This record gives sequence, structure tokens and C-alpha cells, in this order.
Amino acid sequence: MAANNTVMSGIRPTGFLHLGNYFGAMRNYVKMQEEYECFFMVADLHSLTTHPDTRELKQNVHRVLAENIACGLNPDKAALYCQSHLYETSELYLYLNMLAYKGELEKTTTFKDKVRQHPQNVNAGLLTYPVLMATDILIHRASYVPVGKDQEQHLEMTRNFAQRFNHRYGEVFPEPMAFNFGQTLLKVPSLDGTGKMSKSENQMATLYLSDDDDSIRKKVMKAKTGEAPIEKNADMPEAIGNIFLLMELVSEADVIASYKHDFNECRIRFGDMKKQLAEDMVKFIAPIRQKTNDILANENYLKTVMEQGAEKARKSAKATMDQVRMVMGLNYF
Ligand code: TYM
Repeated sequence: MAANNTVMSGIRPTGFLHLGNYFGAMRNYVKMQEEYECFFMVADLHSLTTHPDTRELKQNVHRVLAENIACGLNPDKAALYCQSHLYETSELYLYLNMLAYKGELEKTTTFKDKVRQHPQNVNAGLLTYPVLMATDILIHRASYVPVGKDQEQHLEMTRNFAQRFNHRYGEVFPEPMAFNFGQTLLKVPSLDGTGKMSKSENQMATLYLSDDDDSIRKKVMKAKTGEAPIEKNADMPEAIGNIFLLMELVSEADVIASYKHDFNECRIRFGDMKKQLAEDMVKFIAPIRQKTNDILANENYLKTVMEQGAEKARKSAKATMDQVRMVMGLNYF
């Protein structure tokens, strides 16, 4: 089926959002809302697979909504909603579960990671996490899914489920693609030289959109750089490569070029480079943090956003589910 103009993506409310969420996902949401029909949601149901305690859920859902809006998402352009408000999700999830195999679900990288992290809570929802994510996307028959690199495998599985459904029952779903404006998907590295920025692990090595200026400076100044180069034009070790990668996200091109030149000439001073990065990060994060706090103070506004978003999302989901039930032969009248 040919690609359409529909976009869908989501973020779990399992902690404060960080630079990885922004550059991997939200930056593209903001760009795409101008030209595409967009559905963005807070994946509260997904968060239950690992965070069954719901005492802080409301607060976390509000924060994800507010941070999205503070980053430039316009709820009058894109539908911004909460996953649990779209009841059709549960129905399609059920049907797609019949087309997902235990073996392939057990092989999913995120499932294996989660089993390692939470051995005491390996629940069925965790196993079928990719089916729920496929549901979120397919329920709007979306073609494009702006996400970071860590979600690539889930997108591949989504395409498999879509293909299986279309093949068995009839063409309903396009095969969605992970999307980053023609570029490879992004993985924003952590500041400690290993792994990626993340909501719940690695907190000292992750820059959050809610961090105050001093924490940003402290975290950046502690970032790993590795050894200074002793040979001109040497290969860049991973740790310093990561610092350059972070600079590319927030610093001016001529500033980056001058540090690259210094690296190649073995004149680079890592302390100065980190100071520069820290100030550029402060400049980038501070306005988002302030806007988020203003939005969070207005609960009524957030309620209106959620209602308006859910209404748009329901309309789209209902149209899909009418087709799904029809092609599946679940129409007995
Ligand atoms: P989540 O909540 O872990 O992350 C939200 C988005 O941020 C991206 N991301 C990153 N990108 C680059 N570098 C990083 N260090 C980094 N960390 C996170 C993620 O790739 C993601 O795009 N399963 C999803 C939520 C979800 C979803 C969906 C996404 C549920 N249903 C439907 C797309 C479509 C997740 O856990 O994202």
C-alpha cells in the first residue's frame, strides 16, 4: 500500500524527558506538524509494563505533555493525546496479538534488556510491548514514525504485523517507516562515554530538559573525554567523539569547526571545550524548562489539550477499526 501523509509517535511517562528524547523524537514532531497529519501521544499504558505503581503517573503524564508543548508542539496542529484515552487501542492490540509469535517477541532486544533489569516482573505485557506499539501506529494507519535509533527493531516488527494482517485479512495497513528527515536514526550518547541518555538509568550522565543551569554545567564538566591526541589528525576516540556529537546538536557550526581543527592540530583543551558545550546547553535547555513550568501550572489547559487530542485520535481510530472488523469478518448483522 502506498505511503500516506500520516505520522504517529509516542513517549513513555516513566521519567523526565532528556536531550535524547528531544533530538531523537520531539524535534522531528515539531517539524512534521507543519506538513503532515500528526498523532503524538503519551504512552501511559506502555509505562505500566515496568512501572505498575501509578501514584506519580498523572504528574508524569502532565510533564510529558507540557515538555512536548514547550518544545514547540502545537496541539491545534497535531493531535496530542494520552494512550489510555483511546479505547480502540485495546481492541486492535488483541487482534494483533493473535498474529505475533512468542518466539519473535522473546527475541526482541528491549524485552531481553527489561528481563535483565526487572527479573522479578517479567509480565505478559512486557513480552507483547512491541504489539502494543504496533497498535499505536497502525490504529492511525500511519506511514511515518519519528523515533530514535533504539526503536528501529520495534518498527521492523510493526511492519511484519501489518504485512501479516494485510495478507491474512485484506489490505488495511500501510507499512510504517522510522523517520528522521532522510538521515539515519539518532542515538544521543550519555556523558559518561557509555550507552545513551535515558530517562531512568544513567541520571548523572543524562541532560534533562528540566535540569537547572548549575546541574547542566556540573554534568557537562564531568563528561568523559578520554586522552588528548598526541598525533595530528588522529582518529577520534569514542568519548571525545560523543562530546563533538553533543556539540553538533546545540553549538554554532564555526565553534565546532574551530574545536575540530584544534583536535586535529593536537591543541585542543578539553576543559575549554566542555565549558563551551555547557554554556550552549544552558542556552538551549533553560527556555524549555521555563516554558514547561508555566504550562504545568495550568492544569485546565492540559485537560483541554488531552480532550481535544483524544477526540481527533478517536475519529481516526474509529475509521480504522470499522475497516479492521469488516475485513476480519467480525460483522454479523
Ligand atoms: P521512549 O519513551 O523510551 O522514548 C521516546 C522517544 O525518544 C527517543 N529516544 C532517543 N533518541 C535518541 N537518543 C536517545 N538517547 C534516546 N532516548 C530515547 C526514542 O527513540 C523515542 O522516539 N516504545 C516507545 C514509546 C512508544 C512509541 C509508540 C513510539 C509507544 N508507542 C508508537 C513510536 C510509536 C518508547 O519507549 O519511547
